[in-house]
Amino acid sequence: MTIHIGASIGEIAETVLLPGDPYRAKWAAETFLTNIRQVNNVRGMLGFTGEWNGHRVTIQGSGMGMPSLSIYANELIRDFGAKTLIRIGSCGGMQADVKLRDVILAMTSTTLSTPSRGILKELNFAPCADWSLLQAAAKAAQDKGTPTHIGGIYSSDVFYDERPDLNEQMVRHGILGVEMEAAELYILAARHKCRALAVLTVSDHLLTGEALPSEDRERSFGDMVEIALQAAFTQV
Ligand code: HPA
Repeated sequence: MTIHIGASIGEIAETVLLPGDPYRAKWAAETFLTNIRQVNNVRGMLGFTGEWNGHRVTIQGSGMGMPSLSIYANELIRDFGAKTLIRIGSCGGMQADVKLRDVILAMTSTTLSTPSRGILKELNFAPCADWSLLQAAAKAAQDKGTPTHIGGIYSSDVFYDERPDLNEQMVRHGILGVEMEAAELYILAARHKCRALAVLTVSDHLLTGEALPSEDRERSFGDMVEIALQAAFTQV
């Protein structure tokens, strides 16, 4: 048991999927895992451990933004021994060929800052995905026929962004989409020698202003969860 996760040691699997939304953790566990058991409810940040194709998996909500994700990822890695951490979440599309419901596999993440800035100081560390997970996820997405883009994303600290000039630079430099968590997950994984990847579904679009209606979201998010699970347990 840690400050933010009420599970006993041993109740968390080595492989953890991290949606931002705790209710999405519940939905994904109930939809894709068997023998599930709720292992966290501290602050309503639900976590579940179950099985997928005979493999133990935990799906734990991370909350929104890098400070929140950092709390859960630190405790999962340092106290519960998590080794493979895959963010499953939504993002805003930033390129014209990136469409609503498409999946983005985040090869790298650009930021203005992360919670790790305090220790990295002036160093512009390059947060990047684990290659074995990225390769396996790319194959899983191809096998499913899910429209998928692989490349750089932007992990922002603000949802209501008042710096259109920054977004312009992101678009200009080929950034595929924006979300708020992946960069710190990648940095923590590098520091603690874990594997990490962010598998994202495009839920809204910064260039067109389109957004998925909420009833559409669950169905669209299913592909992302299956890609993440397949990637976690593929040997490459
Ligand atoms: N901005 C930041 N985070 C997001 C967005 C967005 O447009 N969509 C989903 N997560």
